[in-house]
Amino acid sequence: ELSPIDKAKFVAAKRAVDFIEDGMRVGLGTGSTAAWMVRCLGDLVRNDGLKIKGVPTSTRTAELARDVGIEVVTLDEAKWLDLTIDGADEFDQELNLIKGGGGALLQEKIVATASDQMIVIADVGKEVESLGAFPLPIEVIPFGWKTSKSLAEELLVSMDVLGQDVTLRMNDDKPFVTDEGNYILDLHLGRIGNPHQMAMVLNQIPGVVENGLFIDICDVVILGYGDGRVETRD
Ligand code: A5P
Repeated sequence: ELSPIDKAKFVAAKRAVDFIEDGMRVGLGTGSTAAWMVRCLGDLVRNDGLKIKGVPTSTRTAELARDVGIEVVTLDEAKWLDLTIDGADEFDQELNLIKGGGGALLQEKIVATASDQMIVIADVGKEVESLGAFPLPIEVIPFGWKTSKSLAEELLVSMDVLGQDVTLRMNDDKPFVTDEGNYILDLHLGRIGNPHQMAMVLNQIPGVVENGLFIDICDVVILGYGDGRVETRD
């Protein structure tokens, strides 16, 4: 028996794989919801003979995809993708997202942007009026990260953002390191008034590689409930 939260993630994931057709090149997201999707997709490949190529967005997802029998290729081998299915930490009514709770935002954004379509799968807790209650992750190179952190803090002050707390993401007593060998700074903002502007200015800070705001990238959200209901937002 699945817990309500896992059930919500599972039913959203199961509905999303219905959109995958023979011959597609598919971006495979990262996180607990995306993991359900990869398992569902593996079932279709092994049991129904579905033929697809998958481009994973993290080493974790690559490993899982291979385990369940999905043919894994790199983005450069695939060149362009038909569809990416991924989770999110938050989404708003315009289907703008915060991602990166799992630390895979950089590859996730590259893969989603290289896709004709991005479907987000989420449990009902991810839907918000405005983004920002979930800390916004930015990926920074380790060199001079403290300087990048100070610049991010100054930027937030200059933008009159209320919460300005910026923290280095840790893994026990060491900095968390991404698949690309970088660090993550989490921006505790509370509310992001203008996500478009925020996404653009953060990437102007030297040392910032990417931020977790996905603006105008997601096409549809498939939302799962604990009782097994599924809704879509587009
Ligand atoms: C990974 O870096 C994230 O973008 C995930 O997609 C996001 O954190 C959602 O994860 P869950 O599906 O585990 O909530």
